[in-house]
Amino acid sequence: MTDPVLIDWNDEKSAEFRQGVIQARHRLHRAPEFTDLSLAALLSRHSRELCDFCTMGEDPADRDSWRAGDAGDLSGQELLEAVRAGKLWINLREVMNVDPVFKPLFSGLLSQLKQLNPSFNPLRAYGGILISSPRAQVFYHSDVSETFLLHVRGQKRFRIYPPRAPWLEDQALEDILHKDQTEDVPYDPAWDADAAQIDLEPGDFVSWPLHAPHRVENLEGLNVSVTCEIVTKESMVKNGVHHANGALRRMGWTPKSAKLTGAEAYAKLALSKVWKGWTKLSGAGARPLPKSETTFDVDTNAEDRLRDRAAA
Ligand SMILES: [Fe+2]
Repeated sequence: MTDPVLIDWNDEKSAEFRQGVIQARHRLHRAPEFTDLSLAALLSRHSRELCDFCTMGEDPADRDSWRAGDAGDLSGQELLEAVRAGKLWINLREVMNVDPVFKPLFSGLLSQLKQLNPSFNPLRAYGGILISSPRAQVFYHSDVSETFLLHVRGQKRFRIYPPRAPWLEDQALEDILHKDQTEDVPYDPAWDADAAQIDLEPGDFVSWPLHAPHRVENLEGLNVSVTCEIVTKESMVKNGVHHANGALRRMGWTPKSAKLTGAEAYAKLALSKVWKGWTKLSGAGARPLPKSETTFDVDTNAEDRLRDRAAA
């Protein structure tokens, strides 16, 4: 049995978990798995298929400045230095659920959360590690699974907005579920006044309700965080109903509710299934999402440690 990952959970946090914004403390910032040496080794061994290398501009409203890049054959050590000195954001997807070094920490965290919160029942769980530059940011977006974050190194400002209109319009969520849109949703800087703003220090845990939009600005230092994405029955039902509402809208109807119980909800889950089967058969669901094109190479000698590729 490993040491518990979370160290100050209590009944109050259990009551609010997944309903509201929860803060707690964890111990991963003291774990040997997150030293420079260990992270460099991870960057070298993790399958490149599961790595995203990105950069972005300064304006939090300019999400089109988000771009994907290629790390070539740089070593983990070189990549870590590039992130520290440049303007990069690396997502090592699924490290926590596939890597033999990190997997025990993730299993420990999940069993602890299940034990502390008996109604929390993950059907599928994925955990990634984000390694990002001191000036990197992540634009306003809404995730389709239940998510939480364990901050490990550096400082970042996290803003969480309510999961309802105007911060998140039903139609924007439907577009994400129909894959007409990445997880980006419309953002107005004036909404920052409505957000829960949390400055994260190493050892901070934060979780928020399903679909609550959020955005992140790094404040200082090399930033390292663990992000967890959990599929639960609740997230499947909610997404199914919103997906069906999107299907109705695409058939020319305006859905009146996003109720999660009763005959209407069941009918919508059936419709959602049929629609997904149909788009799969017709190939309509197979189109690539925007912004997946690679437009730069990580370059340890360049400014911001990236070199733009010439436009084709
Ligand atoms: Fe997110």
